[in-house]
Amino acid sequence: MFSVGILTISDKGWLGERQDESSQAIRDSLASLDAEEVKYEVVPDEKDIIAAKLKEWVDKIGIDVIITTGGTGLSPRDVTPEATLSVVDRMAPGFTEVMRAESFKKTPMAVLSRAVAGIRKSSLIINLPGSPKAVRESLEVVLAVLPHAVETLRGEAHECAAQD
Ligand code: MTE
Repeated sequence: MFSVGILTISDKGWLGERQDESSQAIRDSLASLDAEEVKYEVVPDEKDIIAAKLKEWVDKIGIDVIITTGGTGLSPRDVTPEATLSVVDRMAPGFTEVMRAESFKKTPMAVLSRAVAGIRKSSLIINLPGSPKAVRESLEVVLAVLPHAVETLRGEAHECAAQD
């Protein structure tokens, strides 16, 4: 069992002008795992607000895996990667490398996401793009790795058994 925080990053969602369907897409994708959602919030595309929320969820609550959705594109308001990079101690690029590579097989638009992943203390933070479709396509690529990633971060995994 591991804890999950879902952070939706969207100006329109925060203003109540858009229904947040992406967080539900994350929940649906995680349903097959032994994961408990302990936090969910919608914040605007503001670097300082995003960074403060990520810090709070790691430093005060110790959430195992924080999944963000939105704000990873090229528009001037898309600052989720910068906010994430400002709070992580170490990067974990494998997650976003495979998400982009696999997503690219479905849509060339995948290259437009600047999503990053990294570790703050023992928490894993993964950015996903904003649309529910992109969330589903991206998360399914790394889903099977998450339990072992958490074990490793907790220092509980002694061997990295190869899994098919
Ligand atoms: N990844 C997948 N798997 N499927 C998609 O449809 N859309 C792309 C990309 N990644 C997409 C995807 C598009 S159109 C954009 S603009 C970027 O994600 C950034 O999205 P964001 O700004 O909502 O985070």
